[in-house]
Amino acid sequence: MPQSRGEVIILAIESSCDETSASICSDGKILSNIIATQKIHEQYGGVIPELASRAHMQNIVPVVDAAVKKANCQLSDVSAIAFTQSPGLIGSLLVGSQFAKSLALALNVPVIPVHHMQAHVLANLIETPAPAFPFLCLTVSGGHTQIVMCNAPGDIHVIGETIDDAAGEAFDKSAKMLGLPYPGGPLIDKYAKYGNPLRFKFPEPQIADLNFSFSGLKTAILYFLKNAGQNMVFKEEFTATETEQAAFIHENMNDICASIQHRIITILLNKLKKAVDKTGIMRICLAGGVSANSGLRNAFKKLGEEKGWQTYIPSFEYCTDNAAMIAIAAYYKFLSGNYEYDLGISASAKSDW
Ligand code: KG4
Ligand code: ZN
Repeated sequence: MPQSRGEVIILAIESSCDETSASICSDGKILSNIIATQKIHEQYGGVIPELASRAHMQNIVPVVDAAVKKANCQLSDVSAIAFTQSPGLIGSLLVGSQFAKSLALALNVPVIPVHHMQAHVLANLIETPAPAFPFLCLTVSGGHTQIVMCNAPGDIHVIGETIDDAAGEAFDKSAKMLGLPYPGGPLIDKYAKYGNPLRFKFPEPQIADLNFSFSGLKTAILYFLKNAGQNMVFKEEFTATETEQAAFIHENMNDICASIQHRIITILLNKLKKAVDKTGIMRICLAGGVSANSGLRNAFKKLGEEKGWQTYIPSFEYCTDNAAMIAIAAYYKFLSGNYEYDLGISASAKSDW
């Protein structure tokens, strides 16, 4: 239902975890992408759902207001309002979904529910050159690790995924063991730049098909640290005292981070190579918060050059949680007409597609 300016203008809201974000997209072009990051969780070493919902309540009106102003448009210009429907923290999702539905009711425009993981994949369509269809996408975030096949914006299938922890969790939990604050992924990235990635050899899990596993790596790192780097074998009694462990971490932080990061990257890229062999598709995208990792970005590009793939990585602001990806996903849904005019639609914590 294009408005009088002849444009499809989407106002999108993302509130699935600890980022409150709003974006305006006009005919598929992102005009604004405002993100309010909730710092309150840092002191707790992880996201506290109740605090996240409260922070979304505080942030949502100013964030939406800022997105509309930055795009230099009016709420009355909006053709549809999109929101992250699932998956995520239910209290956080409810704030965004209720706000979106209320605004849609007031403006008499449709609401478009968007799947957060599909939106991460479609973030690759925001910038140019965008991949042609079909393409594969390695989506690596705090809660998910997936390889998906994308035949069209509304035709996305998971062909491999983690059977336990996500890649982002592997980063964050490793960082926590190293005494680093939450979220530790970006800090591991920072220290890894100065370290030797081959110094410590963490195990690569042998998991069938295109699936991933990161829980064994987490355990290996735990034993490795408890033994102050002497070995990764479980022993009833660890060989190092807490003081020795802390000293070992302090002296070797860069190499430990580089080695952990190297292993996570090789686990991810080895499966991606398998996915390309299996499908024959050579247009490959990265998505999700972990795709902000500089080591992964570089290794992915290098592998693509070696293999002759066409590779795509969204800009940083479209990798971690953001509403622009919700807006672009909703824009394609709007064009296809594949959504219902239904204000009764509700948020869901589940990740069903
Ligand atoms: O996609 P995202 O923003 O939120 C979820 O949907 O989960 O991903 C967040 C994850 C966190 O685990 C965070 O540590 C990780 O992305 N992350 C990184 C980097 N930046 C964000 N991990 C490694 N290196 C980074 N530079
Ligand atoms: Zn995400």
